Amino acid sequence: MATILGICCSRRPLGNSEVLLREALDEAQKTGAAVSFLRLPDLRFEPCRGCLACVYKGSCAIKNDDLGVLLEKVLEADGLIIAAPTYLLGPAGIVKLVTDRALSLSPHLEDLAGRTRVAATISVAGNRKWNPLGVELLNLFPLAYGYRVIDYLEAYAPGPGEVLLEPENVTRARELGRRVARALSGEIEARPPEEQQCGNCYSRAFRLNGQDRITCVVCNTTGRLVPDESGLRFVTDPPDPHGHFWTAEHRRHHLNEWIVPSRDRYLARREQIKKQLTRYKT
Ligand SMILES: Cc1cc2nc3c(=O)[nH]c(=O)nc-3n(C[C@H](O)[C@H](O)[C@H](O)COP(=O)(O)O)c2cc1C
Repeated sequence: MATILGICCSRRPLGNSEVLLREALDEAQKTGAAVSFLRLPDLRFEPCRGCLACVYKGSCAIKNDDLGVLLEKVLEADGLIIAAPTYLLGPAGIVKLVTDRALSLSPHLEDLAGRTRVAATISVAGNRKWNPLGVELLNLFPLAYGYRVIDYLEAYAPGPGEVLLEPENVTRARELGRRVARALSGEIEARPPEEQQCGNCYSRAFRLNGQDRITCVVCNTTGRLVPDESGLRFVTDPPDPHGHFWTAEHRRHHLNEWIVPSRDRYLARREQIKKQLTRYKT
């Protein structure tokens, strides 16, 4: 039976993230998946140390926090549904803290490549105008942990549980849970992206590259802004030979052709760098 891990990133008991996540998981269970619920703030995470032991030594150097617990659950789960409150224009800080640790997945990339792993995200904020990075940065979490994102939900309500006042929120959460569960039984039907969204990751955050060229800031898909009768459309370029940033192929390429060799490039110049650093020592 397919397993779906639900991750709630809010500390508020019965807050909006939790309520919508529980609706999504309940529907996923009714659709035939085994589900579990994890409240991320109940675990303890240290910030990434930047040592790259995960890449060079095969496991994270931080041994006294709960990344191992999370990683075990994530590696086991075929599906992921993650819900987070927006704090200061994007998902609560714990989402980024744990996303930063996703290079720990590197030793497992080959094992994961052959599996169907899909995810959906639920971004909850108080005010529609104040959530420009909610979906984008929340979607980065499953992408970085090796899932394809096939649906997302944005819901708006400030008080805990207030999302329930709008029945459409519950309908959408249940639809999202059903979509993930069905995808895991072979019926992958991703939510169609809107014309202004990146076709790979649903982002609406793009970097302007001059003239009509733009790049999705989440998955690095490039393309052009093309005017038509309804306004401007994002027309993507033919895919990079390695796919967008978060495909298994691109990650393998990035790991082997950039991260791993960066070590030898650094070591070759370490003595020079050390000398230049002496003036900053206190
Ligand atoms: C510290 C803090 C910062 C917040 N910042 C934003 C924000 O930038 N934009 C927004 O729309 N809502 C913001 N909110 C409102 C929450 O996103 C909203 O209350 C949400 O429903 C909380 O979800 P929860 O009930 O799952 O915890 C903020 C709330 C807190 C406590």
